[in-house]
Amino acid sequence: MTDFPLFRGRRLRRGEPLRSLVRETRLVPEQLLLPLFVEPGEGRRTAIASMPGVDRTSVDEALGDAREAKELGIGGVLLFGIPERKDEVGSEAWAADGTVQRAVRAIKAEIPGLLVVTDVCLCEYTSHGHCGVVEGEEVLNDPTLDLLARAAVSHAKAGADIVAPSDMMDGRVGVIRDALDDAGFLELPIMSYAAKYASAFYGPFREAAQSAPAFGDRRGYQMDPANAEEALREAFADLEEGADIILVKPALAYLDVIRMVKDETGAPVAAFHVSGEYAAIMAAIERGWLDERAMTEALLSIRRAGADVVISYWAREFARRS
Ligand code: PBG
Ligand code: ZN
Repeated sequence: MTDFPLFRGRRLRRGEPLRSLVRETRLVPEQLLLPLFVEPGEGRRTAIASMPGVDRTSVDEALGDAREAKELGIGGVLLFGIPERKDEVGSEAWAADGTVQRAVRAIKAEIPGLLVVTDVCLCEYTSHGHCGVVEGEEVLNDPTLDLLARAAVSHAKAGADIVAPSDMMDGRVGVIRDALDDAGFLELPIMSYAAKYASAFYGPFREAAQSAPAFGDRRGYQMDPANAEEALREAFADLEEGADIILVKPALAYLDVIRMVKDETGAPVAAFHVSGEYAAIMAAIERGWLDERAMTEALLSIRRAGADVVISYWAREFARRS
């Protein structure tokens, strides 16, 4: 008997398959959602400068991306739509033949088995770029709810598998749930952006979705980055209103929030590794300052923090390497 430490952590780190046997966390492609930006037109594919590897495409091109996602075993796609024309209230958000609605119908028809999740918000559709109805410089909560519900129902009618409201208006999950139920979509899940922070990490997304606010910012409705406990109140409120999956966004800068929401609610939790978080790592990879393992490590940390679902622009690259 020696007095040398009995615990030798290195025993289990010596190589495969030992390391795999005792690995605590796994990230598999089925747990990933790939965001797709869909625009009007045909045969269109525009690279997003600040998001290497991400394009904005027309519906026909999006089909190819979605097919590839399915072949790689990715769980689903998360659709963001760019309208033909923007207006004050974002009316194309609920147009039966809107960009997202056409994309949903096409993907569901051509690629069965791939989950199609739709972003429900107005900011891509409004001329002012805010997530709700605007009066002066004010984004109005209650008048926005019905418009969001109309958008959600139109996505459901097009065949969406999950709707994901990302606007942060109070009470919208309940109103959307009621509208879906009234329209006969009782079994359609809602993935609610319950804790969505007023983050500096959304910049590249706003280039991709052409949704930067024309005046002011989103601090009047998105959460203060300093608040974690408030995320719990948001999560419980959304669950009470009928949310099925609770989303935290961004992800990397809010790993504590993911863990807290998971532990306290026990609900399925999704986390969005957002555009700026993706762009920062990609920029460093392009300069040779980091290598791709940094991205894998970041996504794994989101799972380890407690997320069941990870939304990632790198989903296809991840799946290719799995
Ligand atoms: C807005 C919305 C945003 C994102 C998704 N939906 C950000 C915003 O402009 O507030 C960000 C996603 C990303 O940055 O990858 N409803
Ligand atoms: Zn929005």
